[in-house]
Amino acid sequence: MNVHEQIDHWLMRSKTALQSVARPFVTLSYAQSLDGSIALRAGEALALSGAESLRLTHQLRSIHDGILVGIGTVLSDDPQLTVRHWQGVNPQPIVLDSHLRFPSNARLCCHSDKRCWVFTTKSELENNPHEVLIDGLDITELEGDADGRVCLHRMLGLLYERGIRSLMVEGGANVITAFLKAGLVDAVVITLTPNFVGGYKAVDDLDIAERHALPKIAPFFSQRLGDDLILWGNVTTAGATNE
Ligand SMILES: NC(=O)c1ccc[n+]([C@@H]2O[C@H](COP(=O)([O-])OP(=O)(O)OC[C@H]3O[C@@H](n4cnc5c(N)ncnc54)[C@H](OP(=O)(O)O)[C@@H]3O)[C@@H](O)[C@H]2O)c1
Repeated sequence: MNVHEQIDHWLMRSKTALQSVARPFVTLSYAQSLDGSIALRAGEALALSGAESLRLTHQLRSIHDGILVGIGTVLSDDPQLTVRHWQGVNPQPIVLDSHLRFPSNARLCCHSDKRCWVFTTKSELENNPHEVLIDGLDITELEGDADGRVCLHRMLGLLYERGIRSLMVEGGANVITAFLKAGLVDAVVITLTPNFVGGYKAVDDLDIAERHALPKIAPFFSQRLGDDLILWGNVTTAGATNE
């Protein structure tokens, strides 16, 4: 089996085995350099993946119901979040944007077949009611978490109610860190690229003091794809429940 088939089969099995009744199955997937950088600097786009791993990313998009990024990634990369280098259906695009910084000319505002779902905090909508009308977006207000950001647990519960059973989280660093910290990651597929960047790191402080409490990947698989190395596996976080 090639890496595309291996990951397809593994994900299918994992989704069935680990599906919760309260939230979608969450796969974290991004490309990083050997030193863990996902960009040169925060807010700048950097194409790290080779052509073959880019195809894998698009395959992964096609086998998830939804794809999520933070507003930081929308502002820096202006992504489309569609399936273009693989054959398959586009996942539902979803953006976390507590303060409604979404630019009205972003490419996600004119998605080919799906209106982008944007999650913001209630207080922000109360302050800027006119912002609800950004063309091409479906904006949903949620209570903020303790930091005033979109509450991931509430957001995932709502996605589940709307029929999203699997969610691919593509980044950026703030979002990756927040999902790991909350113990809300079921699987990872990471593209490791053969370079040092010395830049903006994928994962920040997880606020975990004990080694046993660190998110662990088991089983842990790897395979070369072009010049890159693909690493994947299921994630368990001590104390976290699949809810
Ligand atoms: N190499 C890769 O695979 C890859 C993939 C994606 C992105 N990137 C890179 O990553 C960088 C962007 O990353 P970033 O860290 O600046 O931004 P980000 O993670 O894309 O977005 C972070 C923002 O999302 C909003 N947010 C709302 N609710 C949140 C929550 N519960 N937890 C976390 N964030 C929440 C926050 O802004 P508000 O408080 O305003 O809501 C936060 O600042 C860019 O340089 C991009 O090119 C690389």
